[in-house]
Amino acid sequence: MKRIIRLWILFTIVAACVMAIMLPVSNLMSARKSLPTASGNEQFDSLAPVLQTSCMDCHTPGLTVYPLYFKLPIANQIIRQDMESAQADFQMTRNQLSGKEPFSTLQMAKMEKVLDEGSMPPARYTFMHWDAIIPRSIKKQLLSWLKLHNPSSGIAAIPVDNPFAPDKQMVELGKRLFADKQLSADGTIACASCHSLNKGGTDRSKVSRGIHAQSGPINAPTVFNAAFNFVQFWDGRAADLQEQAAGPVNNPKEMGSNWSLVISRLKKEPSYVRAFQSAFNGAITDATICSAIASYEKTLLTPNSRFDKFLDGDKTKLSADEQSGYQLFTSKGCASCHTGFNLGGLSFEKMGQEQDYFAWRGSSSEADNGRFNVTHKESDRHKFKVPTLRNIALTYPYFHDGSTSDLKTAVRTMSRFQLGWKATDKECQQIAEFLKSQTGCLNGQQLK
Ligand code: HEC
Ligand code: HEC
Ligand code: HEC
Repeated sequence: MKRIIRLWILFTIVAACVMAIMLPVSNLMSARKSLPTASGNEQFDSLAPVLQTSCMDCHTPGLTVYPLYFKLPIANQIIRQDMESAQADFQMTRNQLSGKEPFSTLQMAKMEKVLDEGSMPPARYTFMHWDAIIPRSIKKQLLSWLKLHNPSSGIAAIPVDNPFAPDKQMVELGKRLFADKQLSADGTIACASCHSLNKGGTDRSKVSRGIHAQSGPINAPTVFNAAFNFVQFWDGRAADLQEQAAGPVNNPKEMGSNWSLVISRLKKEPSYVRAFQSAFNGAITDATICSAIASYEKTLLTPNSRFDKFLDGDKTKLSADEQSGYQLFTSKGCASCHTGFNLGGLSFEKMGQEQDYFAWRGSSSEADNGRFNVTHKESDRHKFKVPTLRNIALTYPYFHDGSTSDLKTAVRTMSRFQLGWKATDKECQQIAEFLKSQTGCLNGQQLK
C-alpha cells in the first residue's frame, strides 16, 4: 500500500515537472511573430518586440491570434480572468506597441511605475512564459526610454501663456455670470459661492450647501485648472466645462433653478443684453450662458507656482525636504495617477486600489459608487476622476467625501490604500511639504 502511494506521489511530481517544462517549451516553439514596428525611432523599434511579447497578451484588446496554451482548460480560465482585470486597469493598442501611435503621458507614467517596481508581467505568468521575462538590461533601456520621452513621470509646468486663448468678450461675460446669484432660484447662490476664488476655487466645506441650506452629497472640487481635466465631475458625467455648467443651475440641491427662469432674468438687464450682443450676436440661451462661463473658467489657470519654476530649471525653488518629497512622489508611484499639468485629471481610478478604503472608513453613500453611477459597470464601482493636486494647500478638506483637512493624513491614506506602501511619518511629511509647493498665481497674483 505504502509503495503504491509512493509511486503515485512520484508519478504526480514527474507529470508536474513534464508539464512545467513542456508548456513553456511549446510556447517558445509556437512563438508568435512580433508586429512590425514603424516609429522611426531606432531605440523604440528595438524595444517594441519586448513589450509585445511581455505585455500584449493581457493589455491589448481585440487580439485575434491567441497563443496555443489558450486552448488548455485551466490556463484558459486563468488567462481570461487576468486579461479582464488587466484591461480594466490599463490598455495599450497594437498601433502603440508597433510605434505607429504615441503612448499618452498617463500610459507612460503607469508603465514607468510597474517597470520600476518589477510587478509586470505578473510572476505567475512568467513562470509559464519564460520569453516574457524582461532581462534587467532591457528593463533599464525601457525605463530610460520612458524617462526621456516622458520626463518627470509626465508631470509638467502649467504653461504661462494660456493654451486655450478664450475669446475676451465671452470671458468678461462669463466672469459676471459666474458671480451672479440670479442663476439660483431664490437669488442666494452663485457659482462663486461654492467655488470661491479666495478659497482655492472651492468652498472649504466637507460637502457643499445649496439653496435653502441643503447639504449636497459630495465635496466640491476646485475650478482652478479644471480646464485641463479630461472630463468634469468626480464621476465624469460631464464631457467638458460647457456641459458641466448646466449641472448646478438645474440641480435642486444646488442652485435649484431652470433655464427659462434664468434667461428671463438676464433679458431684463440691459447690460447683459449688450454683453450677449457683442459676445454671441444677442443670443441669450442655455448654450451661450454655459459657453461664456466655460470661457471664463479657461482663464482660471494657476501657473508660476514654486514647483513650476523648479520644473523650469530653478532648483533653488524647492527646499531639500520638498525635493525629497517630490522624489518619493514619482518613485513610489503617486505620479502614475497624479500626472500631467494638473497632477491628476487624466483618468478614473479606484479609491482603494490596494485595500478596501470604504470598509475601513465605514458607512456608505451613493456618491461613494463614483463612476459606477454613470456606467453601471461593476468594474467602475468606487472609481473617481483623479483630482488635481494643484493648489492642494488651499483646497481642503480632501477626497470626494471631504473626510480629512490634514494634507499629511491625506498623503498617508493614499500611500496605504492606493499603493499598499507603509510610508513613514517623515516620508508623509516630506510629500505633504512638496505638495504645498503647488500653490500658483491667478492672473499674476500669488494665491493664498
Ligand atoms: C498575464 C497578464 C499580464 C501581462 C502579460 C502583463 N500584465 Fe499588466 N496587469 C495585469 C493585471 C491582471 C493587472 C491588474 C492589476 C494587478 O493585478 O496588478 C495589470 C495591471 C497593469 C498596470 C496598471 C497598474 C497600476 O498600478 O495602475 C500597468 C501599467 C501594467 N499592467 C503594465 C504592464 C506592462 C508594461 C506589461 C509588460 C511588461 C504588462 N503589464 C504585462 C496582467 C498582465
Ligand atoms: C452648491 C454648491 C455649488 C454650486 C452653486 C456650484 N457648484 Fe460646481 N461643484 C460643486 C460640487 C459639490 C461639485 C462636485 C459634484 C460632483 O462631482 O458630483 C462641483 C463640480 C464642479 C466642477 C467640476 C470640477 C472637477 O474637477 O470635476 C466645475 C467645473 C464646477 N463645479 C463649476 C461650477 C459652475 C460653473 C457653477 C455655476 C454655474 C457651479 N459649479 C456651481 C458645488 C457647487
Ligand atoms: C491608483 C491611482 C492613485 C495613486 C497611485 C495615488 N492617488 Fe491620490 N488620488 C487618487 C484618487 C482616485 C483620488 C480621489 C479619491 C477620493 O476622493 O475618494 C485621489 C486623491 C488624492 C488627494 C486628495 C485630493 C483632493 O483634492 O481631494 C491627495 C492629496 C492625493 N491623492 C495624493 C496622493 C499621493 C501623495 C499619492 C502617493 C502616495 C497618491 N495620491 C497616489 C488616485 C491615486
